[in-house]
Amino acid sequence: MNNSKKILLTGGAGYIGSHTAVELIQQNFEIVIVDDLSRSEARIIEGIENITNQRVNFYKGDCNDSLFLDNVFKKESIDSLIHFAAYKSVNESVDEPLLYYQNNLGSMINLLSAMKKHQMNKFIFSSSCTVYGQPDAMPVDENAPFKKAESPYGATKQMCERILEDTVNSNRNLKVISLRYFNPVGAHPSSLIGELPIGAPTNLVPYITQTAAGVREKLTVFGDDYDTADGSCVRDFIDVDDLAKAHVQAIKSIEKISGRYETFNLGTGRGETVLQIVKKFEEVTGVKLNYQIGARRAGDIEKIFANPAKAKEILGWQTKKSIGDSLLNAWNWEKKVRNIL
Ligand code: UD1
Repeated sequence: MNNSKKILLTGGAGYIGSHTAVELIQQNFEIVIVDDLSRSEARIIEGIENITNQRVNFYKGDCNDSLFLDNVFKKESIDSLIHFAAYKSVNESVDEPLLYYQNNLGSMINLLSAMKKHQMNKFIFSSSCTVYGQPDAMPVDENAPFKKAESPYGATKQMCERILEDTVNSNRNLKVISLRYFNPVGAHPSSLIGELPIGAPTNLVPYITQTAAGVREKLTVFGDDYDTADGSCVRDFIDVDDLAKAHVQAIKSIEKISGRYETFNLGTGRGETVLQIVKKFEEVTGVKLNYQIGARRAGDIEKIFANPAKAKEILGWQTKKSIGDSLLNAWNWEKKVRNIL
């Protein structure tokens, strides 16, 4: 069976985009990937092809280039769009705010303009729990107010959601879902796709796997004096395959959902501390991790985890994988990248 709906994935060669591409293809959706490969590599496209045994319809280009986008929309009959393409490093965004505002907001505006021109009306956006800033209550649900963004990266996610809401208000035909990811971790069980950080990773799990692989000397746990079970920060770590499946559910549900702009938290609903993740990694992989406790990292939130009830009720989606599985898959991917047997 073919669902005969072409779905455009911007940033489809990226970490979450590539896993979603696999899920969509495996559920018989036709996809088109647009990616400039500035933060990924062609081998991820090959990985998608090897897992699914299908050639991927791929255009290399930048979503900030409106002529390029126009060309893609003219050639392909696109039914809906999932917009993953964005810069996502909190630290880098502090050093290069203009780069972040220009890229993340520019591509959003370009895409919405192209959609208007080509009369496409279904849009799914990669948002983030970062939109909540430091929430007052835990677990956080979708009605929590946007507090001041902790970084320019976070501000771009807040602004993109605002741009989407305003655009929906101006166009009665448009429907938008913003998916607010908590902390995505893991890799595809095949080890053919996974995260490819550029330079030293800033995220926890790639730093752990690179330390275990000997690429980094030592992991620093940023702070053990927070008001949490063991003093390290609490996050909601969600497996990337579970996350990918949520996008498929969003695509399947977008027409039926009553609201024209809807937001969903995508998380497990469980908080885990950084030190619990370190210990779990050692337990499931049998690898001893070289780590030390260091100072708190500027801008870190003490504790955040999701109330994912809305996604369960409306999208019929919930997480299935355990954190142990995710960490093992992340490790297997790292070993593959580093040629470790
Ligand atoms: C942040 C954003 C998230 C975004 C992600 C993308 C917030 C609240 N979250 O996640 O929306 O998608 O960046 O990059 O803004 N840690 C260490 N040592 C390390 C690395 C991390 O102890 O070497 C700790 C951090 O202090 C933090 C936890 O691990 O407590 C998770 O950090 P990280 O993976 O960087 O993600 P967030 O900052 O939670």
